[in-house]
Amino acid sequence: MTTPCQFQLNHQPVDMADCDPTESLLRWLKRRRLTGTKEGCADGDCGACTVALLQTESDGNTRFTAVNSCLLPLGSLPGREVLTVEALQQPGAPLHPVQQALVDHAGSQCGYCTPGFVMSLFAGYYAGELGTTAIEGNLCRCTGYRPIRDAAAALARQPVADDAFALRLRLPVTSTAGALDGYHSPLTLADAIALKQQFPDAVWIAGATDLGVELSHGRRRAATYIALDRIAELQQLELNQGHVRIGAALPLSQLETRLAGLFPALDQMLPWFAARQVRNRATLGGNLGTASPIGDLLPVLLALDAVVHLRGPRGERDIAIADYFLGYRKTARADDELIAAVTLPRPPPPSSTTRQLSAAYKVAKRQTDDISIVAAAFAVQIDAAGQVRQARLAYGGVAAIPCRAVGVEDFLRGRTLDAATMETAQALLQAAFTPLSDHRAGAHYRRSLCASLFAKFVATELTGAAA
Ligand SMILES: Cc1cc2nc3c(=O)[nH]c(=O)nc-3n(C[C@H](O)[C@H](O)[C@H](O)COP(=O)(O)OP(=O)(O)OC[C@H]3O[C@@H](n4cnc5c(N)ncnc54)[C@H](O)[C@@H]3O)c2cc1C
Ligand code: FES
Ligand code: FES
Repeated sequence: MTTPCQFQLNHQPVDMADCDPTESLLRWLKRRRLTGTKEGCADGDCGACTVALLQTESDGNTRFTAVNSCLLPLGSLPGREVLTVEALQQPGAPLHPVQQALVDHAGSQCGYCTPGFVMSLFAGYYAGELGTTAIEGNLCRCTGYRPIRDAAAALARQPVADDAFALRLRLPVTSTAGALDGYHSPLTLADAIALKQQFPDAVWIAGATDLGVELSHGRRRAATYIALDRIAELQQLELNQGHVRIGAALPLSQLETRLAGLFPALDQMLPWFAARQVRNRATLGGNLGTASPIGDLLPVLLALDAVVHLRGPRGERDIAIADYFLGYRKTARADDELIAAVTLPRPPPPSSTTRQLSAAYKVAKRQTDDISIVAAAFAVQIDAAGQVRQARLAYGGVAAIPCRAVGVEDFLRGRTLDAATMETAQALLQAAFTPLSDHRAGAHYRRSLCASLFAKFVATELTGAAA
C-alpha cells in the first residue's frame, strides 16, 4: 500500500517527501542512478526515456501505458505505479519476451535507444497493440527500423505470457492523490475550482505534454500547479444519440480508440498528432488551453462545430468554438475557469436529402511526430441536388488563431462543387489568410495549401478520386 506521498517504482514504494514536484521523472531517475532510462531530447520527441505507467483508466481497464518520463513531473506521481526497464530484470530468469524478440531480430546496436523501445513494446505487448504505432515515438539512430519492427511483429504472433505483469493487470489500480508542495491533485471539479480561488496564480496542468517541456528544461511557469488528471468527471466520455461529450482531461489515445469511426476528421488527425507516448497523456483540454495557432485538434473542433464547456467559481457556461479564440493564445476562457468538456454534434446519418462529408489533413516536414505547417479540417453538407447547404473550412498555421474561411464558406453555400466553383473557391482560399513565413514554410506555400487541401478534400470525398 502506498501513502499519499509515495509512489511505486518497480514494485517498491518510494518516499516523495523531499521531491520537487516540477522535476521530471527522468531527471529524478538519473539522480537516483537508475540509468536504464535514457535521455535523448528531454522534449518528448525521441522516446529514449519511455517508462510504463500502470493505471486503471476511465473505461475500467487496467493497462501499462507508455509515457515519456522527461515530460512527467514528479508531482503527478503520488499514489501511482511506474515501471522502468529495470523492472524487467529478473535475476536468474530468462529475458522478458520483449527483450528476447529484440535480441532474436538484431534490434539493437549501440543500445542507447533500446530501453525506450523495450518499454514501448512492453506496454504494447500486454495491450495487444504491437502495430507500428507502438514504436512510432521511439527514434533509433543506428539499428534501422526493420529489425525492430520485425521484433514487434514476432511478438504480436506470440501468446502473451501469463506472468507476474499480466497478473498485475487483472487488479484495479487505485491511485491516491497526494499533495506535494505546490502541486495539487484534486479529485473533484469543485475542489479544483476552490484551489484556484485559494491560489489565483496557480496553473492548470493536465497531461503535461506542453507544460512538461518547460519543466523538463527547468522553466517553472508558476509557484503552484493544479493537476486535472485525477478528476473522474474530466475523464468521462458520453456517447449520446445526437452528440458526444468528451471530458477535457481524457487522454487522446483513448479518444482514438473509443471514438473510432464516429468522426472521420478526428480519426484522420489523431494518428498524426505527436506519437503514442504523448497521446497517452495529452488531452483535448490541454490543446484548447494552450490555444496554439498550430494546435492540430483545433481546426477539427472548428469544422465539427464543437461547444466548449467551461467551469469556474461562477458556475458553468458553454461557448461555441467559433467564439472561443480571441487572439494569439487568448481565449474566451477566464483565468479562474477550466475547460470541463467539449461536445461534438454527431454528423447526421446519410439520407436521400443530404450527406455530410468531413476530413482533416496535416502537412508537416516529417510524416509523424512533427509540428504542422498547415492543418485543415473541412465539414460540408450537400443536398440531393449536389448543392452545398453548409460548409465549415477550418485551418491552423495560417493566422494568429485557428480560424475558418468564413467568406469562402458563404461563397460555397447554395453552389454545386463543380470546376467553376472550385476555381473561384481556390482563388478565394489563397487570399483568405495572411500567414507568416518561418523556418517551416513560406507564406506563399501556406496560402497554396489552403486551396490545395480543400481541392483534395472535394476530389477525394465528393468524387472518391484521389487528388
Ligand atoms: C513531442 C511533442 C509532440 C507534440 N505534438 C503535437 C501535435 O502533433 N499537435 C498538437 O496540436 N500538439 C502537439 N504537442 C503539444 C501538446 O501535446 C498538446 O497541446 C496537448 O494537447 C496538450 O495537452 P496536455 O493535457 O498535455 O496539456 P498540459 O501540458 O497539461 O497543459 C497545456 C496548457 O493547457 C492548460 N490546460 C490544460 N488542461 C486544461 C483545462 N482542462 N482547462 C484549462 N486549461 C487547461 C494548461 O494550463 C497549459 O497552459 C506536442 C507536444 C510534444 C511534447
Ligand atoms: S528524452 Fe526524448 S522523449 Fe524523453
Ligand atoms: S541502437 Fe543505437 S540508437 Fe538505436
